[in-house]
Amino acid sequence: DERLLTDLKSTIRSIPDYPRPGVIFRDITTLLGNARAFRRVVDKLVQPWPGSKIDKVAGIEARGFILGGAVAHQLSAGFVPIRKKGKLPHETVRIVYSLEYGVDEMEMHRDAIAPGDRVILVDDLIATGGTAGGAVQLLRKMGAEVVAAVFVIDLPELGGAQKLREMGVTVRTLIAFEGH
Ligand code: PRP
Ligand code: MG
Repeated sequence: DERLLTDLKSTIRSIPDYPRPGVIFRDITTLLGNARAFRRVVDKLVQPWPGSKIDKVAGIEARGFILGGAVAHQLSAGFVPIRKKGKLPHETVRIVYSLEYGVDEMEMHRDAIAPGDRVILVDDLIATGGTAGGAVQLLRKMGAEVVAAVFVIDLPELGGAQKLREMGVTVRTLIAFEGH
């Protein structure tokens, strides 16, 4: 298991000084392009929920869509896109969330979640938790039961996973990177 995670970690490409000097960008395109790694990462993300009833998987634009679609398929659940504002055509519910620098808004269709739906939230990475925290608020506002939030990568120094746990969310992350 430890070996598997080390192997998975080695499929992620690290790009120094991108998008800004001093930042290391963790690039998952190399993981996604590796058939075995992609399958394993999806299997690992959903491992604690075999056969438990999950109604919806919510994925956060953009990188959360890639993993979220695969996770939804794996769990035989529906998929709900949480999008950056202005992209969804029907009635939406919107939330302002904080990023490392500044704020942004994301939204979801009002009819995407029914009250009581059991939902797993998926994104590629959690850093400050601003994005995922906003998504949890959005889902809860529509009456969802957020069963868990799952991420391939955690940047623990930025405290996002801790922040989500303080919101009462079960958090699952597979690979941690120290230094950012
Ligand atoms: C990145 C990443 C997460 C978010 C994590 O997305 O994919 O969604 O940042 O940061 P946080 O925990 O500090 O909120 P980004 O906003 O760069 O957009 P993208 O997925 O569309 O590339
Ligand atoms: Mg993202």
